[in-house]
Amino acid sequence: MEEKRKKLEWEESYSVQVKEIDDQHKKLFATINELIDSIYEQTTKEHLNGIIDSLIIYKRFHFATEERYFKEFNYSGAQDHINKHNMFNEKLDAIQKEFGADTVTFAFKLVDFLEDWLIQHLMTVDQQYVPCFKEHGLK
Ligand SMILES: [Fe+2]
Ligand SMILES: [Fe+2]
Repeated sequence: MEEKRKKLEWEESYSVQVKEIDDQHKKLFATINELIDSIYEQTTKEHLNGIIDSLIIYKRFHFATEERYFKEFNYSGAQDHINKHNMFNEKLDAIQKEFGADTVTFAFKLVDFLEDWLIQHLMTVDQQYVPCFKEHGLK
């Protein structure tokens, strides 16, 4: 097999300066890294499904955390941000439906999508709530 795919590494620039949320983002990174590892461990569809299920459960919990603060703080960017979360949910559902016979190809595709989306989301959309969350005393 070609060179092993690089795992996601946390960078300080991803921080939203709120420990609870940074920890959740790190946990999402860890789950994606588990997915990357699984590709090289001759994964089975069942094993992969287990990781994907835990990812789905955890991202649901994570989005709910952010959205709860939006509501609590009357965050002006809430609706746009919630739309982005919903778009992610739809995209992930669509990708999951493609989960066919070729487990490895599917896993790579999924990792590409998750990595692109998560990092992009962390660095742009999530950063936008930082002033609001700080103003309300989160840290
Ligand atoms: Fe978000
Ligand atoms: Fe987030």
